[in-house]
Amino acid sequence: MTAPRPILVTGGAGFIGSHACKQLAAAGYLPITFDNLSRGHRRAVRWGPLIVGDIRDSAALECAIAEYRPEAILHFAALAYVGESVADPSPYYSHNVAGTLAILDAARGAGIDQLVFSSSCATYGVPDTLPVSETAPQRPVSPYGRTKLFCEQIIQDYAAAYGLRYVILRYFNASGCDPDGDLGEWHTPETHLVPRILMAANGIIPSVEIFGSDHATPDGTCVRDFIHVTDLAHAHVLALDYMSSGGKSLAVNIGSGQGVSVRDILDAVSRNTGRPVPTEMRPRRQGDPPILYADPALARRTLGFSARLSNINVILGTAAAAFASPAATGAAEGRGWQPTPFHADRSGITAKLEP
Ligand code: UFG
Repeated sequence: MTAPRPILVTGGAGFIGSHACKQLAAAGYLPITFDNLSRGHRRAVRWGPLIVGDIRDSAALECAIAEYRPEAILHFAALAYVGESVADPSPYYSHNVAGTLAILDAARGAGIDQLVFSSSCATYGVPDTLPVSETAPQRPVSPYGRTKLFCEQIIQDYAAAYGLRYVILRYFNASGCDPDGDLGEWHTPETHLVPRILMAANGIIPSVEIFGSDHATPDGTCVRDFIHVTDLAHAHVLALDYMSSGGKSLAVNIGSGQGVSVRDILDAVSRNTGRPVPTEMRPRRQGDPPILYADPALARRTLGFSARLSNINVILGTAAAAFASPAATGAAEGRGWQPTPFHADRSGITAKLEP
């Protein structure tokens, strides 16, 4: 038996990072999580060691790299609330930009030449054309989006000068949870649409706000590309395989290619639970593009990526199941509530993911 191949995973205790660690382990890698646990969770780290450290701490990074000798770095660690980044940009530039710089320098010092970077469709801002392809102009409308764009540019400069190879993954809206129930989505505070709707459906919050019903979209609410977190996690394994087999550096969208509105999701939950989700109309949220969905063709062509679990019923079913499982999320702990049964369409869940 060959030993698992070590990969440094910054932010491996977070929502997307922990799902990626599970898939890395299944694919024969040893995920070494480096996370300051400011937003991640110790118990989400289950498939390899955890080093508690801040990515801006170069000495801690160098120490972790010297100990485990990773062959590549998956860099998830970042602050990722768009609204918070507008109100308080300083920590965003510090963690996201200075943190990425520290990682790049640590990698360079140790001769690690492969990086998978978590970027975002937020780097596109409000796109002129849909679906959004990788050649669309990148004009972010929030400090968060700008931090991700700056990191992309720094990575490209390091690649040109120092021989780094990279896959930049521009995520669309990560959602859903591990279909086996091992992991959940557990943000504090929780601001994302799918968990907020499930929280309202379960009476954890009185209602979910709808940010604008007058957008230029078919039903007036925003449209997003909801990509199941397990699909997204799988894209990282494919990116590592791609680089190992000599693939050229690449920036690529990871989305399902389908646009789903806020109203569509509310209706799906209401239909499923048999009662309307309580809602509250709010004005548009600052910086929200009305419609975003990916052109997934480049990911298919280069990485062989296709979304398997990213239909809204599977996303809602897996997210709702995780709500009920203390193993997957802290949300159910100590609240004394029973989640509303959600009759998930499990048909897509059995779809086999290639290792
Ligand atoms: N929304 C509501 N009510 C809520 C929460 C969200 O109406 O309570 C709406 C938002 O206005 C938006 C959509 O639902 O139109 C999705 O909102 P999320 O907050 O779930 O996700 P965002 O699209 O704003 O942001 C997410 C990630 C970012 C990433 C971005 C890329 O949080 O890190 O996707 O689109 F950059």
